[in-house]
Amino acid sequence: QTKLLFPNNIVLVGFMGTGKTSVGKQLASMLAMEYIDIDETIEKSQGMSIGSIFESKGEQYFRELESKCVIELEAKSSSVISCGGGIVLNNNNILSLKKNGKVFLLTAKPETIYTRLKQDSSRPLLKSKSEDEIKELLEKRRKLYMDCADIIVNTDNKSIEDICMEIVSQR
Ligand code: S3P
Repeated sequence: QTKLLFPNNIVLVGFMGTGKTSVGKQLASMLAMEYIDIDETIEKSQGMSIGSIFESKGEQYFRELESKCVIELEAKSSSVISCGGGIVLNNNNILSLKKNGKVFLLTAKPETIYTRLKQDSSRPLLKSKSEDEIKELLEKRRKLYMDCADIIVNTDNKSIEDICMEIVSQR
């Protein structure tokens, strides 16, 4: 009975390159919880990479798939859910995720993000972007991220393990 009073998914949000996927996978295995990656779920259901979806159908179409996926996840419990960085662009996504989950915001300095992602070409919104351009996009979204966070976890200079421990201790 009382168990139902507690939100029981761990929802990871944050900008690209803040470690949502790496942290989410490790966290789920540490806590023996199911791991769900929204981007990966979309890629599987479409049989296409995120990059190809953006390219062939456009960002708006991707955002619709993202929101559909979030609604389907309302039925989930005891799961670690890693969101794509743009999940905060639609507040309904956050409302859905919060129904049964606690939102952990992972943060990192732009230079950390830049270093982590510079050899990665799989993110359409970051393709050939400079550190300054990343900073700009980050600034644009900062308020959305801060507003949805139940707990904020900075990831600069921390190991995946340390980040997981921090989340577990605040769960
Ligand atoms: C996006 C982040 C990506 C992916 C898509 C758009 C964004 O996910 O959903 O490329 O708008 O920030 P990651 O944050 O896992 O890279």
